[in-house]
Amino acid sequence: MLCTGLLLALVAITCPMAVDAVNAPVGFGAGTTGGQGGTTVTPTTIAQLRTYLCGSTDSRGHCTDSTRRVILINRTFDFRNSLGKKTETGCKVKACPNGQSDLGLNWSGFCNGRTATSVTYDLAGVNDRLVIGSNKSIIGVKNTGVIKGTGLRIFGGVSNIIVQNVQITDINEGIVWGGDAISIDGASKIWIDHNYIARVGRQMIVTGFGSATDVTISHNVFDGSTRVGAYCDGRHYWLWLFLGKSDTITLYGNIIQNTSGRGPHSGGMNSADVRLHMVNNHFRNVGGEGALMSLSKTSYILAEGNYFQNVAHPVYKYRTEPGPVFTPFDGNAAKTCSTYLKRSCVANSQTQSSSKWNYSPADIIVLKKLSTYSSSLINPAAANTVPGTTARNAGVGKVN
Ligand SMILES: *[C@@H]1O[C@H](CO)[C@@H](O)[C@H](O)[C@H]1NC(C)=O
Ligand SMILES: *[C@@H]1O[C@H](CO)[C@@H](O)[C@H](O)[C@H]1NC(C)=O
Ligand SMILES: *[C@@H]1O[C@H](CO)[C@@H](O)[C@H](O)[C@H]1NC(C)=O
Ligand SMILES: *[C@@H]1O[C@H](CO)[C@@H](O)[C@H](O)[C@H]1NC(C)=O
Repeated sequence: MLCTGLLLALVAITCPMAVDAVNAPVGFGAGTTGGQGGTTVTPTTIAQLRTYLCGSTDSRGHCTDSTRRVILINRTFDFRNSLGKKTETGCKVKACPNGQSDLGLNWSGFCNGRTATSVTYDLAGVNDRLVIGSNKSIIGVKNTGVIKGTGLRIFGGVSNIIVQNVQITDINEGIVWGGDAISIDGASKIWIDHNYIARVGRQMIVTGFGSATDVTISHNVFDGSTRVGAYCDGRHYWLWLFLGKSDTITLYGNIIQNTSGRGPHSGGMNSADVRLHMVNNHFRNVGGEGALMSLSKTSYILAEGNYFQNVAHPVYKYRTEPGPVFTPFDGNAAKTCSTYLKRSCVANSQTQSSSKWNYSPADIIVLKKLSTYSSSLINPAAANTVPGTTARNAGVGKVN
């Protein structure tokens, strides 16, 4: 049982169940220590929270505070209405039954070709995101750490940041461009672990256009349950968007539920160059376009040991420029890996209520590209162990 170390030193802990990899990240983000060894603080106001996360910025807004600090969150910080609301002309994403629709702000021409309508949104989610400096940990206490109405912004060359055991929710739900939960743009050594993310307007996690290097996203619950959704099915479409210049990302042991696409959308814009290892994640009840979408030649996705339960498309064959993916669903495809990775890959598993998956690319270029990072590739457990492990381990309230 691993229940010692960083967290034990910070807060009184009882450790009722076995929890793996709580105290140190594995995969590309290995070695991330955040604020470990620095002072521990517990903010009580939004202003304090902001200052502890980043005490100073330069003229470009980049955080210059790299003091080691552990920021414990033991309450709800609710940003909604803190900056007021704004009404402007946006559009309906898609007409759904009963006159319902998600709405969108008219960013990047999003509303071209869509029905215009007036959209009222909370300004905090868009204009008041929390900037985090280098050498910081933000850690929720038991299940009490909640940030509502805005997200986290990790950018401008920062490094060594842990976001753990925090609930990030209610950022302009149902309004596309209404705010991301976590964005990483020009940062390295980031560990996003054991969080719960739900009801956001835009992406749950987004990288680009700077790089997101040495990132591990582990044991989180991404809950896409929403009122309407892009496919009118109560599921959130905008899960993960990876567009960084030089992204190396491990997605490990997460639960993804009630989404309808972008799991992830990787590559496809600007100079995106992404290496992604997806291991032992549990996707369940995923409709629309399904999960993996690799959109350009420089997006390399290796997915192994994942459990796809009632997922419309474990891999979505995008109309244009499908990028390379290696997703074995049987032992033979998995064995191809041993030539490049010095071990077999672990097959993914899928259960479908209706149609079967019909696309599981085995693009060797992915193995070639990832073979140079072999020390960062987690050895997966068998896919059929994933539902049990993630049910015990993923989400908040499990680490302290
Ligand atoms: C983080 O802290 C370490 C140790 O105090 C220090 O050497 C390093 O420069 C800091 N990182 C940044 C980006 O400032
Ligand atoms: C949060 O922790 C601080 C420091 O231990 C404590 O003083 C405070 O009462 C706690 N707040 C809540 C809401 O539990
Ligand atoms: C959206 O923005 C574009 C410019 O990017 C503009 O041409 C268009 O009229 C706008 N649509 C609405 C509904 O405001
Ligand atoms: C998904 O949404 C449905 C309602 O649409 C709900 O019943 C279900 O519990 C949610 N979660 C999962 C994992 O399917």
